[in-house]
Amino acid sequence: MPKQILIKNAKIVNENNTMEGDVLIEDKFIANVDTSISAKSSETTIIDAEGKYLIPGLIDDQVHFREPGLTHKATIASESKAAIAGGITSFIEMPNTNPQTVTVEALEDKFEIASKSSIANYSFMLGGTNDNLDELLKVDPKSVAGIKLFLGSSTGNMLVDDPKTLKEIFSKVKLVISVHCEDEETVKKNLESCLAKYGEDIPISMHPKIRSEEACYKSSSKAIELAKETGARLHVFHLSTAKEMELFGNKLPLEKKKITSEVCIHHLWFSEEDYDSKGTLIKWNPAVKSSKDREALWKALINDKIDVIATDHAPHTWEEKQNSYTKAPSGGPLVQHALSALMEMHHRGKISVEKIVEKMCHNPAILFEIEKRGFIRKGYYADLVLVDPVSPYTVNKQNILYKCGWSPFEGTTFKSRVTHTFVNGHIAYQNLKFSDERAAMRLTFNR
Ligand code: DOR
Repeated sequence: MPKQILIKNAKIVNENNTMEGDVLIEDKFIANVDTSISAKSSETTIIDAEGKYLIPGLIDDQVHFREPGLTHKATIASESKAAIAGGITSFIEMPNTNPQTVTVEALEDKFEIASKSSIANYSFMLGGTNDNLDELLKVDPKSVAGIKLFLGSSTGNMLVDDPKTLKEIFSKVKLVISVHCEDEETVKKNLESCLAKYGEDIPISMHPKIRSEEACYKSSSKAIELAKETGARLHVFHLSTAKEMELFGNKLPLEKKKITSEVCIHHLWFSEEDYDSKGTLIKWNPAVKSSKDREALWKALINDKIDVIATDHAPHTWEEKQNSYTKAPSGGPLVQHALSALMEMHHRGKISVEKIVEKMCHNPAILFEIEKRGFIRKGYYADLVLVDPVSPYTVNKQNILYKCGWSPFEGTTFKSRVTHTFVNGHIAYQNLKFSDERAAMRLTFNR
């Protein structure tokens, strides 16, 4: 008899529906979902959910776990642990590591590290450069989540700016091409005028003026134009401005869209007004912008112009973040608190739990054609999360799991928390304790 776990009395949130019921896990998979299921054997582990939400494990399609090469900031082991505590059971990691993940060989090295240390399911993106088209075409589409292009420079010097190369990549690569969009020339020009005005002491509040709306719109509209011209399958990462919302439609179901869109937790939570209190801790690329931009992102998310929510988890050390504006790196850690933050927005009436599940579980699975994950369905991997909607906690140095040891949410009290995380049918996390066994798997794709 395979190992069984029976989760009883849950509010099961799945496919735009919430149902009170039970879920039976057998070995790695969901064996049954029903209003009432009885244990078939005395060996079955029974977990009483006591009315908590049971949702599919979150799939975060944009994280930076810094391995190899930048392990003073984070490791796959440390950040996958934080992800699991936050209900993220699968992640897709970015290529701006050291060495950069721009060859199939470097990609396989990362898979090797993850297979030995990740406690969450994993995949990676292969990075494009001005001269690695052969690698992008060589990679087996079934083995990797997709391709990442930095169309604006950010951490890691991975700018792809040669128009001829870009056209070739967009025309020939069949995988989903995910892009970071900020127009380099516009950012440069804005930075130069700020340096002329302030010298090295540029106030952090100028960040959204330097990495401006214009910079974002110019770059994302250009990428979309090129995708339309070439037929590329384009996914635009971390949108941050109201103006960019003009570029996306909501008429087609996600499966049919050739151009898809994403917003990140920090752009939904913070606004320009927070630079005063948070300083460089909320310095991200693209920048956190005005509260009007934030409102437009929420609207586009709810009306399905935006398809996916991700974190862009990008840890840097506390010391690195203490530098002045020009020297402090952009990025901050988010995987542990993303779901609590979204639940907080749910309590404020901004988003339903069903919509959170659509944008963080179902849609990344559909968009990247991930095999048997992202839904609570019979025969799917049992990646599941129990969320207690009313169990407040305050983010502080003692409960932060990131290797960098800080969070932009420090001092924030969240009403809801993750109590259990199941990975491939295994209880990976339960009431603040992690299992010693690892059950994580490499993500596979239906391509
Ligand atoms: O703020 C950011 N930090 N944006 C990125 O695109 C990269 C990331 C990082 O890796 O630090």
